[in-house]
Amino acid sequence: MPRFPVATPQRNYTAVVERGAISRLAEFLPAKCGRIFVVTESAVWDLHGDRVRSALNQTTFDTLFFAGGEANKRISHVEQFAEQMAELGADRTSLIIAFGGGIVTDLGGFLAAIYMRGIPVIQIPTTLLAQVDAALGGKTGGNLVAGKNLFGSFHQPLAVLIDSDVLATLPEREYRAGLYEVIKHGVIASEPLFRVMESKRDAVFALEPKIVEHMVAESVRIKAEVVTADERESGLRRILNFGHTFGHALEAETKYSHFLHGEAVSWGIRAATHLGAALGMLPEQDSRDILAVLNAYGPIPSVAGIAAESLQARLLKDKKTIQARVHFVLPVRIGEVVVRADVPEAAVRAAIDRALAECS
Ligand code: GLY
Repeated sequence: MPRFPVATPQRNYTAVVERGAISRLAEFLPAKCGRIFVVTESAVWDLHGDRVRSALNQTTFDTLFFAGGEANKRISHVEQFAEQMAELGADRTSLIIAFGGGIVTDLGGFLAAIYMRGIPVIQIPTTLLAQVDAALGGKTGGNLVAGKNLFGSFHQPLAVLIDSDVLATLPEREYRAGLYEVIKHGVIASEPLFRVMESKRDAVFALEPKIVEHMVAESVRIKAEVVTADERESGLRRILNFGHTFGHALEAETKYSHFLHGEAVSWGIRAATHLGAALGMLPEQDSRDILAVLNAYGPIPSVAGIAAESLQARLLKDKKTIQARVHFVLPVRIGEVVVRADVPEAAVRAAIDRALAECS
């Protein structure tokens, strides 16, 4: 079964992609492991908590419950958890297990990054989106009112355990949200993965184990390679933000309450595809294929009523905006993207307009 090495200056670790991977948890506990804290959501814990409990066998642990939702991915919750941990006697040997979707893995990872200046974390993602993206690569943090993921830290985990068994209970909307990140991986780095998503839609929606394992493993392979090449996003890692610059603007504009992150990324991929095509960078057929695949896995909730000018203004608050120049990740063919900071505002506006019109 696939195991993908992630080698970074901070830490080398493994992403295990395997049915039943959670049962291997004890193999990845540090030798001198103090008190264990599982950060999770009650709905996830009710469905799958027994898998963690039995993997930890006789080891005692505490559970920190997070209310869930992108709107709650705020620093105030991290502080509350840290206070709880301190009351329960956490010290530098303590371990956090982040067990949930991308919001939990981001926030739980950040809690580990800052508690006593850093304690270890094991990531166990339970949504497709977290399995193929959020839980891997050490990005942790949360949202400010001003924008998405504007506080955080790079804190690499001891291991990432990716168990496709837990996807069976995922609501369809959550599953679909993760599929857009898989499509993203295809567009940025693997035409074969993109073509699988294009041709095997029914099998993907039917959760056929072979196809699910393939798309998860391919996404994890791509992401592990990118993070190994560039942990801190000074170069190559920026390609993983394809669709995210526009998507984050949409999430912030709707106060994180209207779209799941993956849905906003889907809209962002659409806008970036229109932009790449309008700038003459992307062949028309590739543009049509990307939009057709987004439609095949859609629709996302309506964007009706969202003002294009507000979204455009929000782009300036993105982390990738440096000295008022927005850095866009744009496709040049299916399987390759480039970063451009010299894009005319009128072209950006036209791409936003088209993407809004298509999703209203
Ligand atoms: N989700 C983008 C990254 O991890 O770099």
